[in-house]
Amino acid sequence: MHSFEDLAAADQEAYAAKFPLLGLTFDDVLLLPAASDVIPSEVDTTTRLSRSITVRTPLLSSAMDTVTEARMAIAMARQGGLGVLHRNLSIEDQATQVDLVKRSEAGMVTNPVTCSPEDTLEDVDRMCGHYRISGLPVVDASGVLLGIVTNRDTRFETDMTRRVREVMTPMPLVTAHEGVSGPDALALLQKNKIEKLPLVDAAGRLRGLITVKDYVKRDQYPLATKDADGRLVVAAAIGVGEESFKRAMTLVEAGVDAIVVDTAHGHAKAVADTLARVKASTTGVDVIGGNVATRAGAQALIDAGADAIKAGVGAGAICTTRVVAGVGVPQVTAIFETALAARPAGVPVIGDGGLQYSGDIAKAIACGADTVMLGSLLAGVEESPGELVFVNGKQYKSYRGMGSLGAMRSRGTAQSFSKDRYFQHDVLSDEKLVPEGVEGQVPFRGPLAGVAHQLIGGLRAGMGYCGAGTIAEMQQARLVRMTAAGLKESHPHDIQMTVEAPNYGSRD
Ligand code: XMP
Repeated sequence: MHSFEDLAAADQEAYAAKFPLLGLTFDDVLLLPAASDVIPSEVDTTTRLSRSITVRTPLLSSAMDTVTEARMAIAMARQGGLGVLHRNLSIEDQATQVDLVKRSEAGMVTNPVTCSPEDTLEDVDRMCGHYRISGLPVVDASGVLLGIVTNRDTRFETDMTRRVREVMTPMPLVTAHEGVSGPDALALLQKNKIEKLPLVDAAGRLRGLITVKDYVKRDQYPLATKDADGRLVVAAAIGVGEESFKRAMTLVEAGVDAIVVDTAHGHAKAVADTLARVKASTTGVDVIGGNVATRAGAQALIDAGADAIKAGVGAGAICTTRVVAGVGVPQVTAIFETALAARPAGVPVIGDGGLQYSGDIAKAIACGADTVMLGSLLAGVEESPGELVFVNGKQYKSYRGMGSLGAMRSRGTAQSFSKDRYFQHDVLSDEKLVPEGVEGQVPFRGPLAGVAHQLIGGLRAGMGYCGAGTIAEMQQARLVRMTAAGLKESHPHDIQMTVEAPNYGSRD
């Protein structure tokens, strides 16, 4: 057996060309402690998610049908991160999800949901339930405000076939003009002890709505990711090709803030073309591309105009791409490679997949990520789609890969929109699908707020150890490579755990 140094120069070159990189992942490295006067609670975790979106918490929830629908996106934005709405549903349904997030809270609702005086209380109930709101302004056909119907008006009604006009609180109501300032609006709400302030123009037409709920939320979620109008920020995933372009345009119309061209292999002409086309056809919306795991892949998306790059191939907890196709790059190296191209171009990097513990967030950032995207760590929270399941008295929620058979298979006449993430849109029969993911369940974790607190708490601790007061400083942190024995030493050992920690679970 000869050593590498003994090889002829040409052979050394052949080896280097064939095996250019050593692939490292989170379990291969640890952050090096460094001189520090940084206190974890004082760390600033503000970071760039894309060229024009800044978040105070560097967390994104995955565009997966067991992770991110409107409820999760709302919760993520409130925690200062962002949700990416999955795309395994029709264009119309995905646009509705965007609308739900954009309407969930606002400085001012510019296009409030309304009802007509001829609607029934049943109609009102349905709309309020759908949008999770407590009342509706009542307008005539030309948009003139006639009154308001809230749960105060309907609480004691038993006949749900009654018309809105019979039970609404009619004009004159306390209203304000469109351009009313925030403090003036709050003063009106307080003085009149009301919860909703309709905004009208000179002709009495409804132009907007301010609710007291939004003021309460502002205090409750000070880190929330909001747009210029005070609405929560949301992103949504699309695929490639003509249909996806149509999807993107519909989502933009619904008010989405960022489009994610979401594929398993982003270093592909179809991805670059879709990204460039969506970018050229929109303004005020960032377009994110992925996934890539090499410097060249990242460069191709930067050249196509990407506003952020998503890094990760085969790292996800439910992924089988590396086993089925034999392809991938361990996640620490994938993030580092992507950042090599993205950093000089000023394009933020999203480290997507493979994170198992809060410490992995700190490691991902040290390797060049600006934010991270989480699937398995978030699939178990209350706000993720799907019901709780009980197994042997323990609570779980389902979690499946978007390349799993379940996600790619059509259901009756309902089409799957997940196949093309794995470039299998041309596979007509479900039997011929080649899955790249699995289906399973993860333990129930309670509300997102508690989980996010632990994840960010871990990141803050990591930043403290590294002497990094900001994300930019954390990206300068250095790491040490470790052996399998080092990893074994890193986890609890020589003890039988008797109390469950809120931020640690062993892997088996
Ligand atoms: P974690 O590890 O956070 O990873 O659960 C979530 C990420 O995994 C990707 N993803 C997949 N990758 N087959 C894959 O190879 C799949 O079926 C699959 N589904 C999701 C995706 O990038 C997600 O954010």
